[in-house]
Amino acid sequence: MKKIFVTGGAGFIGSAFIRLVLDETSDVEIIDFDALTYAGNLDNLVGLDENRHKFIHGDIRNREAVLNALPDDCDAIFNFAAESHVDRSIHSADEFLTTNIIGTQVLLDAARAKNIRRFVQVSTDEVMGTLPEDDTAFFNEDSPIQPNSPYAASKASAELVVRAARETFGIDAVITRCGNNYGPRQFPEKLIPLMIANAMNDEPLPVYGDGKNVRDWIYVEDHARAIWMVYEKGKSGEAYNIGARNERQNLEVVTSILDSLGKPHSLIKYVTDRLGHDRRYAIDATKVENEIGWKTQTTWEEGLAKTIRWYQENQDWVERIRNGAYRDYYKKHYGMEVGTV
Ligand code: NAD
Ligand code: DAU
Repeated sequence: MKKIFVTGGAGFIGSAFIRLVLDETSDVEIIDFDALTYAGNLDNLVGLDENRHKFIHGDIRNREAVLNALPDDCDAIFNFAAESHVDRSIHSADEFLTTNIIGTQVLLDAARAKNIRRFVQVSTDEVMGTLPEDDTAFFNEDSPIQPNSPYAASKASAELVVRAARETFGIDAVITRCGNNYGPRQFPEKLIPLMIANAMNDEPLPVYGDGKNVRDWIYVEDHARAIWMVYEKGKSGEAYNIGARNERQNLEVVTSILDSLGKPHSLIKYVTDRLGHDRRYAIDATKVENEIGWKTQTTWEEGLAKTIRWYQENQDWVERIRNGAYRDYYKKHYGMEVGTV
């Protein structure tokens, strides 16, 4: 059995990655290390093979806890753990800087102490800032790093500490930079699950600004497979941009959700724009396609239908979140209660 150490495995993408690896391999054992912040959810791990998946509750900023949990014979660290929501980083950047930067450094130090063969840093296209609207420009691996939100700045800084560990200590590291994910088990503070949850409950759908910001959407399983393939085939020191060539304006995404659920467009409510709101993300995935042989397997239409179905069939998962601390965040951020019609 090959052992891998996955941080943030109780979150949206980390849990999808664990599911994929357990389903598509037979010789990999996973140590899943997660602090269970508001975004971490043990419900996301229900049904996993207990012989090959071991959950450890811990914080990547805690050096001793990381060293105790990380086996000496581990082949790789996959760092998914992060504060991941742009809007929360605008309210306060503190946790973003400590988890996303210092936490990454702690993991790199542990990788060095235990001679771990490879370090996989799960980064984001947001480190490259924003692209002009109505342009044909794309982010590629040579695009400058110019983050615009505290979240993006913390992820860009994490990439830099990974680079420094490689240059200084020769740590074998690869970086993945993906666009906007969607799929089952995404916390309903992000656009797609928030809009599905509100639409299912006939509540207003808060669209920022003019609704014309563009995101490049990818189904979470496709992202997870790309990370696994970059781990297996990527060149040390390289970054790989991951995207499904699926640019959509926010309004198009929201109206597609309403149409799929048979709900009226009058539920859309335009609200104050996000501060420093990046206008457009679009990813050129040529490098990961040509060098690694990855390509997306799920179309937008299939992925969105599967996602909506999952939220319809798992309303208890959504309601458990909507009844918790989420209510306070929602009120602070949108100035209205969850459930306001
Ligand atoms: P998420 O917020 O759903 O999950 C984050 C997980 O990290 C949670 O389980 C949380 O408990 C855990 N965590 C947070 N702080 C921790 C700490 N200090 N120690 C240990 N665990 C901690 O996020 P996600 O959407 O699944 O994103 C996962 C990773 O992928 C992040 O690094 C994010 O930057 C990156 N990413 C996300 C997207 C996206 O569209 N969601 C796109 C590209 C990259
Ligand atoms: O691009 C990758 C990034 O995608 C990841 O690194 C982040 O972790 C992830 O959160 C996501 O960031 P975004 O800010 O693009 O995602 P979010 O779902 O928050 O917003 C998507 C778009 O929808 C964005 O233009 C803002 C808009 N939006 C979002 C919310 C929550 C709204 O119009 N209304 C909302 O209520």
